[in-house]
Amino acid sequence: MDPKGREIPGYRMHAFVCGHSRPEGSARGCCTEKNSLELMMEFKSATRTLGMSDVRVQKSGCLDFCESGPTCVIYPQGEWFKISTEAIPKLVEYLQGGELPKEFLLDIKA
Ligand code: FES
Repeated sequence: MDPKGREIPGYRMHAFVCGHSRPEGSARGCCTEKNSLELMMEFKSATRTLGMSDVRVQKSGCLDFCESGPTCVIYPQGEWFKISTEAIPKLVEYLQGGELPKEFLLDIKA
């Protein structure tokens, strides 16, 4: 058992929000210029407020869908989202076992 009382590693669901930065004017842009770190903190705080200790929300490096972001991927389902303030309550519900918030799925053709 580890110091947090866990007996096995891992989480029921694991959300990664891109926290990658590129210099201003770069061809691909980046998620942090679209407030991804603030959105990640808002998303993370919401899960902590609800005491959701079996899920984890954290920042990641570039998820390589830069033009379509700010990007979020949730495992083990492997569903990809465009995160926004409006999406966060639905993403939290999804982590709680709710329905897939299809309206916030990442559209790479947009
Ligand atoms: S900078 Fe976020 S996906 Fe690449």
